[in-house]
Amino acid sequence: MRLVILDDYDLASEWAAKYIRNRIIKFKPSPERYFTLGLPTGSTPYGCYQKLIEYYRSGDISFKYVKTFNMDEYVGLPRAHPESYHSYMWNNFFKHIDIDPANAHILDGNAVDLETECQAYEKKITEAGGIELFVGGIGPDGHIAFNEPGSSLVSRTRVKTLAKDTIVANARFFGNDLSKVPTMALTVGVGTVMDAKEVMILITGAHKAFALYKAIEEGVNHMWTVSAFQQHPRTIFVCDEDATLELRVKTVKYFKGTNSKHNKLQANYSFWEESSDLN
Ligand code: PGA
Repeated sequence: MRLVILDDYDLASEWAAKYIRNRIIKFKPSPERYFTLGLPTGSTPYGCYQKLIEYYRSGDISFKYVKTFNMDEYVGLPRAHPESYHSYMWNNFFKHIDIDPANAHILDGNAVDLETECQAYEKKITEAGGIELFVGGIGPDGHIAFNEPGSSLVSRTRVKTLAKDTIVANARFFGNDLSKVPTMALTVGVGTVMDAKEVMILITGAHKAFALYKAIEEGVNHMWTVSAFQQHPRTIFVCDEDATLELRVKTVKYFKGTNSKHNKLQANYSFWEESSDLN
C-alpha cells in the first residue's frame, strides 16, 4: 500500500490527476489497446476532473483510446436529473474531453431488469480486458462505491440499499431533503474493484479521517469496506492533511518520508516494480 499525503484538497486533486495522466500516457493507448479506467463521482474527485480537463486542453493527454467504467448510479433517478451520476460525469468531465461517448460506461439505474444490467456491466468490464486503474472515493462510513457497511468483500456489481449515513451525507445534493435522496443504487462490488490492476482511493477532509484510520490501521473488516484494499497488491491512498487526523503520528511520518519517492513514481510507472521497499 502507498499513502500519499498532500497539504490540502487542491494539491491532492492535482497529484491524483497527474498520476492518472501519466499512467495513461505511459500505457500508450491505441485503437488496438485501450486504457481502461474506473471512475467515481462525488465532491472528492471534482478537483481531479478539473485538472484532467486542463491537461486535455493543453494537449498533454487524449482520452480517445480510453474506456471508462463508473462505480455506481442511483436507482430510479432520471438520467437527466442534475444529481444523477450520468449528469455529474457528463457535466463535470466527459463533455469537456475527447472520449467517445460509446466508451464511457455508466450503470443504468432505470433499466427494466436491474440484475441483468449489473451482470451485463461485469461482462463489459471483462470484455474490455479488465480495469487498469480504478479510481475511487469513500464515504465517512468507509464505503467504497456504494458498498455499504456489511457488504461482502467479494461482492460483484449489484443492487444495494443505501445506508442511512449515506442518505444523510448525500442529502446536501438534494436540497437537504432526505426524502428526495434515492434509497437504492447500482454499484460495482468490492470484488469488482479488487480485480483492477491498480486502485487509487481519494480521501480528503477531516470528516473522512476516521474512515482512513479504519481503512489502513485496523484489520480488514466488511463494516469498513474500503479496508479490503489492504489485500490488493497495488493500492494508493491519496489524501490531504485533514484526512490523516486520526492516524498515528508514526504512520504519518513514515508515509511522508516516502513522499519524495512517490513523486518520482508519479512520473514513472515503474514505481511499483522498482521500489519494492514501498510495496
Ligand atoms: P464524496 O462522496 O466524495 O461526495 O464525499 C464519496 C462517497 O460517498 O463515496
